[in-house]
Amino acid sequence: MLKRLNHIAIAVPDLKAAAALYRDRLGASVSAPQALPEHGVTVVFVDAGNTKIELLEPLGEASPIAAFLEKSPSGGMHHLCYEVDDILAARDSLKAGGARLLGDGNPRIGAHGKPVLFLHPKDFAGTLVELEQA
Ligand code: CO
Repeated sequence: MLKRLNHIAIAVPDLKAAAALYRDRLGASVSAPQALPEHGVTVVFVDAGNTKIELLEPLGEASPIAAFLEKSPSGGMHHLCYEVDDILAARDSLKAGGARLLGDGNPRIGAHGKPVLFLHPKDFAGTLVELEQA
């Protein structure tokens, strides 16, 4: 089911500052900010060679990363995103095995214009897992 690691996401309180850190201190290539109101975040992607780093900043009142940043005000690792071939088949098989999905369990369109789903961290060794149909 699992294919490559698509990205590692880091929640940050200040996207501009975090993007500058990766671009200026590490010399990485960083994408332009992309607002995703449906997901309550603004994102940039850092090209890390074999994978990407997704920097997430809260967007709007009910951002799903607001509580995370309350607990970790300077930011921190938020989720891992793995690619799958067939997101509905992956969801059904994970659900059958007892995994819980966030939201209504239906894929939504993510930052890459592809369907994504999130799995409850309590079912995955304390890590929030995003699946993306690649
Ligand atoms: Co992500």
